[in-house]
Amino acid sequence: MSEQVSNQQINDEGHLTIGGVDALALAKQYQTPLAVYDVSKIRDQIRRFKSVFEDNGVDYAVTYASKAFATIAMYQVVDQEGAHIDVVSGGELYTALQANFPAANISFHGNNKSYDELEMAIENHVGTIVLDNFHEIEQLSDVLEKHDASVQVMMRITPGISAHTHEYIQTGQEDSKFGFDLKTGLADKALQQVLANNRMNMIGIHAHIGSQIFELNGFQMAAEKLVDIAAEWRAKYDYQPQVINVGGGFGIRYTKDDNPLAPEAFVDAIVKTIKQRATDKGLTMPAVWIEPGRSIAGPAGYTLYTVGGRKDVEGLTSYLTVDGGMGDNIRPALYQAEYEAVLASDPFAKTTETVHLAGKYCESGDILIDQAHLPATKPGDVLAMLDTGAYGYSMASNYNRNGRPAVVFVENGKSQVVVKRETYADLTRLDQAYDPE
Ligand SMILES: Cc1ncc(COP(=O)(O)O)c(C=O)c1O
Repeated sequence: MSEQVSNQQINDEGHLTIGGVDALALAKQYQTPLAVYDVSKIRDQIRRFKSVFEDNGVDYAVTYASKAFATIAMYQVVDQEGAHIDVVSGGELYTALQANFPAANISFHGNNKSYDELEMAIENHVGTIVLDNFHEIEQLSDVLEKHDASVQVMMRITPGISAHTHEYIQTGQEDSKFGFDLKTGLADKALQQVLANNRMNMIGIHAHIGSQIFELNGFQMAAEKLVDIAAEWRAKYDYQPQVINVGGGFGIRYTKDDNPLAPEAFVDAIVKTIKQRATDKGLTMPAVWIEPGRSIAGPAGYTLYTVGGRKDVEGLTSYLTVDGGMGDNIRPALYQAEYEAVLASDPFAKTTETVHLAGKYCESGDILIDQAHLPATKPGDVLAMLDTGAYGYSMASNYNRNGRPAVVFVENGKSQVVVKRETYADLTRLDQAYDPE
């Protein structure tokens, strides 16, 4: 029995429902593999984050880290909920602008934004550029001169705090490709350059310590560190950041072995830590910005697959195959991410076997769940993989020339395609025949 499926999600026929719609009906109508989002879960998580700030009486921005799942429909929902977004590429920015997302509520991140991307951001009046390195300060300065423009900036620093998580998703330790280092004085040097540039309005300081974090103390340490830097900068340069941005990284439950705090509990602790430290240091309470990605998109997402064949070898764990895999969810192959899956026709069915749930891609590493506990299945059954909403579709590829799945949003018992399934014609759309002459 999965703890990520509630009793309310089971209909009279015993099937899994998502957003009030039978998962088997979704699979039948839209085919599989299929990415399905329960939109009310997205809205609910944003509202929970906002209420933490409102209860604490603090200025804030909930900035959805859109790399987790970036489509026009998602940007629309985030905007409807009054949240901001961050983007990390011209492509994400373009998608957000296509969704009519208010540019003023967009922050632009990234450790190697190109000149063209910076220019695109300035031309479209993006709200905040999060500066990552000296090259970028120079490039942005050139763009601003060229356009006779000015922009809000924030500075990303590496606070020297390693969050307890898988090393591929650690970003706050000193030896990181992101941000200005504090210890060696690079952050101070960058601050001086930015303050001297009257086209850059330096509003604050940013750190993101990692992802899928389950413990409070990394965030509390980072929050204290950021306030300490603010106090130091006020003393040294008579400059106090108005915004402290603590990034994202709030862990979610992927399997029953995961027991994270509720994402909003992390934020409550962060806000209280900043309040206390700011009081101790005699600083005006800054606005607090957060950048959750996974905790907003992850639990809202389900991937539906159809069971194909299986391989049983005596004495070994059987392989059960489905019609998707690493092309729609690279996370298990990339960093051994774990998930749970249930039978859509009977999510609470007693599990009777443990199998390798394998994808259809030509890689031995294309295993979606290494130890999947499932009831008996037969070809044609539909499995729902849970909590796949973050970094699944957004990292999808056309490996083996498989099309990416359709994405369906479901809310109040109604479903709607928000990204079409890729066709074979889509796969060759950019190909050009080679003519050696
Ligand atoms: C700067 C920054 N902010 C926010 C996030 C979102 O993290 P998560 O999806 O774990 O909340 C990331 C993730 O890589 C990030 O790099």
